[in-house]
Amino acid sequence: MHQSGRKPKLLTDYAPPAYLIDEVELDVALDPKAARVASKLKLRPNPDLVAGARRLALDGEGLSLQSVALDGIRLSREDYALKEGSLSIASVPAKPFTLEIVTLCDPEANTALSGLYRSNGTYCTQCEPEGFRRITYFIDRPDVLAVFTVRIEADRVGAPVLLSNGNLIAQGEIEGTGRHFAVWHDPFPKPSYLFALVGGDLACVSDSFTTASGRKVALNIYVEHGKEDRCAWAMDSLKRAMRWDEERFGREYDLDMFNIVAVSDFNMGAMENKGLNIFNDKLVLARPDTASDADYASIESVIAHEYFHNWTGNRVTCRDWFQLCLKEGLTVFRDEEFTADTRLGPVQRVVDVRLLKTHQFPEDAGPLAHPVRPASYIEINNFYTSTVYEKGAELCRMLQTLLGRDGFRKGLDLYFERHDGQAVTVEDFVAAMAHASGRDLSQFMLWYTQAGTPELACSLDYDVHAKTARLAVSQVVPPTPGQTKKEPMLIPLKVGLIGANGDELPLKLDDDTPLAGGLLEVTQREQVFEFRDVPSPPTPSLLRGFSAPVRLTTSLDPGQIEFLMLHDSDPFNRWQAAQTYALTLLTAAARGKGDRARVTDKAAARLGQSLGATASDAALLPAYRAEFLKLPSESDIARELGRSVDTDAVHTARETLRAAIGNAIREELAGLYERAAPSGPYSSDPESAGRRALRSAALDLLVGTGEPAELARAERHYREAANMTDAIAALAILSHLESPARDRALDDFYARWQEEPLVLDKWFAVQARAARPDSVETVQTLLSHPKFSLKNPNRIRALIGSFAQANPTGFNRADGGGYRLLADQALEIDRFNPHLAARLLGAFESWRILEPHRQARAKAVLEDLAARTLSTDSYEIVTKTLAAG
Ligand code: BES
Ligand code: ZN
Repeated sequence: MHQSGRKPKLLTDYAPPAYLIDEVELDVALDPKAARVASKLKLRPNPDLVAGARRLALDGEGLSLQSVALDGIRLSREDYALKEGSLSIASVPAKPFTLEIVTLCDPEANTALSGLYRSNGTYCTQCEPEGFRRITYFIDRPDVLAVFTVRIEADRVGAPVLLSNGNLIAQGEIEGTGRHFAVWHDPFPKPSYLFALVGGDLACVSDSFTTASGRKVALNIYVEHGKEDRCAWAMDSLKRAMRWDEERFGREYDLDMFNIVAVSDFNMGAMENKGLNIFNDKLVLARPDTASDADYASIESVIAHEYFHNWTGNRVTCRDWFQLCLKEGLTVFRDEEFTADTRLGPVQRVVDVRLLKTHQFPEDAGPLAHPVRPASYIEINNFYTSTVYEKGAELCRMLQTLLGRDGFRKGLDLYFERHDGQAVTVEDFVAAMAHASGRDLSQFMLWYTQAGTPELACSLDYDVHAKTARLAVSQVVPPTPGQTKKEPMLIPLKVGLIGANGDELPLKLDDDTPLAGGLLEVTQREQVFEFRDVPSPPTPSLLRGFSAPVRLTTSLDPGQIEFLMLHDSDPFNRWQAAQTYALTLLTAAARGKGDRARVTDKAAARLGQSLGATASDAALLPAYRAEFLKLPSESDIARELGRSVDTDAVHTARETLRAAIGNAIREELAGLYERAAPSGPYSSDPESAGRRALRSAALDLLVGTGEPAELARAERHYREAANMTDAIAALAILSHLESPARDRALDDFYARWQEEPLVLDKWFAVQARAARPDSVETVQTLLSHPKFSLKNPNRIRALIGSFAQANPTGFNRADGGGYRLLADQALEIDRFNPHLAARLLGAFESWRILEPHRQARAKAVLEDLAARTLSTDSYEIVTKTLAAG
């Protein structure tokens, strides 16, 4: 913990690199404790700079330097300076020169999982954002792009498979040593964060893909031996993603080979290294008995996401890490569009917005709020956030909404045309959109620079005599840390006016041409839109498709909301109306005390009728219908309350509504449950998955009634489950209960899956998420379970992460036991994997919206953490979380 690492880096301090690296030759001799990396770099002074300093500084961390040579001449100890974090050479030539550096690093001791490390015996790397400097000395920043040639050497027996980026150009034995080598060449210049290397004893599943222009690409997925039968879905997803990117965005793959490697120890989900994606194995391996529909869905979207980075991130990369949304936001947008186009249709929007509101809205409203393009950071690893990713994706979506699909496509084509092979900024991206469409997008740029979720208030007045409907709109962007004053934003607001019979009324503003797509552009703090020739009083449908990431408040009364939840032709808004209706009841109940913490049976029954009607409408997609039966989550309710949250009252309110709805439409739910019963073998297609989701959602409401017959139904659901989706759905429902049925199911699940790590993670997670008074103790006990270990990030996330992030009543237990548990574990994890620890500590971000008693407990724990020795990563999270709001 050196204080220098804690100084914020500023976007405004950006300076181009003094030297460029055109070519890299790496020679890596793999060894568990002392991997030897010989690097030969071709450098030259950056021609864009007026010749200045002669000093060259290379980044490097935790390396043991063996030798440095400049243009073939070995440097002596006086010619360079070694500090923690860098190697600098006081005087280098003013013309192109060569540096040869030999270092050692220790893959087995690498517990931070950044740089070169070992996972279950396999050597692998993770370089984004700053891991390459833990492999060799380098100018480790994304605006230095080099062509890499990599020779890897290792024991033939321990590591028969040797992979790096690009194409394989040579391989062979090293006679008499038991070692062999492979040489890889990647013709595309790339920043160091996209470098990857793998060495291990892995099985390979192969296929191929022929691109639109007729080039054949070899596709390989490398997994542990014995897991070959779990790769089919990932391979299928990859091929579909490749095809879709050609069709929708005209983007073809550009190498002869595309490799994916699955490893079991990985800090994140997956990584887009050029031609060699490395994946957390949970995002590759799937078989119907081991993976749920949710797993199938994440595998599909993460495979697609990392593949899509080949253009958005790799061919065109980021100038610096402040521009992270340039690749991540855009690539999330692309993967969302892929799933919408090929799988979920309008349901995808519901799924994405739910995720945005659950994670990004709290972040934007809390102490860690930052713009989609941050202006400062201490540790860049802490900025792979929901704001950069999910809100970043929303900004791309708004551009598409504003420019139209074709306009957006033209803008993206221009972006690739202009910037292929470059490292660019958000300004470059928006400029391409602006030039291709002829629009001025300067006000839009505020979305990248202003943090905080805009609050949009809308009210509609109808004038019977004039037959006009006046929509008054106002926007406020709330203050966020470091940003007190905000400018009004450009907000695309999609609207519809619905007549009494459910018809869409034409939208006419000043002239007679109806408003295309119902799209209004809000640009001022206060604005009025007047619709003419409105024959009868309309119900407005506002922010259709969630056209902008804002908090909407409206003047709609419950009757109008109910009308929308049955009649809105916009599928997103129809679902949103149901959620809004439920949230109104839930927040009122959660604000009440004691007996008032109830939902009136009459209101619940009304809501139940509407939900039941939609859920039973066979004309709608099953997955869509299922979304109606999922009540707002406890975190939805807490977010809506916004202050003085008592998580127990929230839980009680939700349980009460759940039971009331279950009781009100029990017959209907039971009918739905029966009709959605599986027929035939498991298939992951959207229709079948939707039916399973619908059935589990009905089961959840039925069990909420507390009727013994329904509990028996859940137990039967578990016992008869023929796939992981049904088994885990039943187990999750049972896990909250105080019943022998719960223990029986958990024991059975454990007995069946104890030797399957990814499935056992589900067993840990389901218990960590259970909303029970003893969940802190349960998690505490599981921490000493023989199968629990801090060695594996997935296991840590399954138990500790699920508890802190997905169990609001347990984590926020009034005695503060949940906070203490997280703090103790994070402190321990921080010593060996700071990145992971800092992520877990993110769970404290909403402590200020809690009621005073819980706030005090959380604050005490945070203050205690702040007084400890912390990594830079955790230090940044803890101090910012505590800082006055
Ligand atoms: N580039 C990231 C992986 C990454 C993130 C590496 C942070 C190092 C630090 C990758 O493209 C990514 O975004 N992965 C996501 C999944 C994705 C589908 C949102 C992840 O790993 O969670
Ligand atoms: Zn990504």
